[in-house]
Amino acid sequence: MLPRFLGFVLVSAGLASFVPGVAQAGPEARCAMCHEFHSDVNRVGPSLKGVFGRKAGTAKGFAYMFTKYVKGEPWAWDEAHLRAWMDDARQAIKDFTGNPQARTRMPALHVRGADADAVIAFLKQLK
Ligand code: HEC
Repeated sequence: MLPRFLGFVLVSAGLASFVPGVAQAGPEARCAMCHEFHSDVNRVGPSLKGVFGRKAGTAKGFAYMFTKYVKGEPWAWDEAHLRAWMDDARQAIKDFTGNPQARTRMPALHVRGADADAVIAFLKQLK
């Protein structure tokens, strides 16, 4: 009985800690189909846990397409880079690398304005 009860408590605690994730009805829901926010698991795209301030192309264990176009030190994901990336990653990768041939597998999502603000605020608080 006790182990069962404990299991119930743990599951409930797990659900409770998922509640901030319910806020993923916000514009970041558009990222969630390809990206994990709360663990280091990589999906179609690399984990976005801790991405704010992280150097581009450095999520552990993810095979990036864009990194082969990066010359020297990669940029860090600050507001300006994230904004351009969420709007149109395919154009952004050319601008960031200065290479018109540069490609990424992330689609152009056209997430802009208040939606982009909300996604950035959400990404900033992921640890
Ligand atoms: C259809 C799938 C898909 C969606 C939707 C998507 N992404 Fe991505 N994302 C990717 C892929 C794939 C990559 C890896 C790009 C590469 O390898 O060139 C990526 C890479 C990234 C990176 C670079 C991470 C790093 O470690 O350098 C960021 C930042 C990012 N995405 C943010 C977002 C945000 C924010 C959203 C929602 C607004 C989003 N993505 C939605 C597929 C997606």
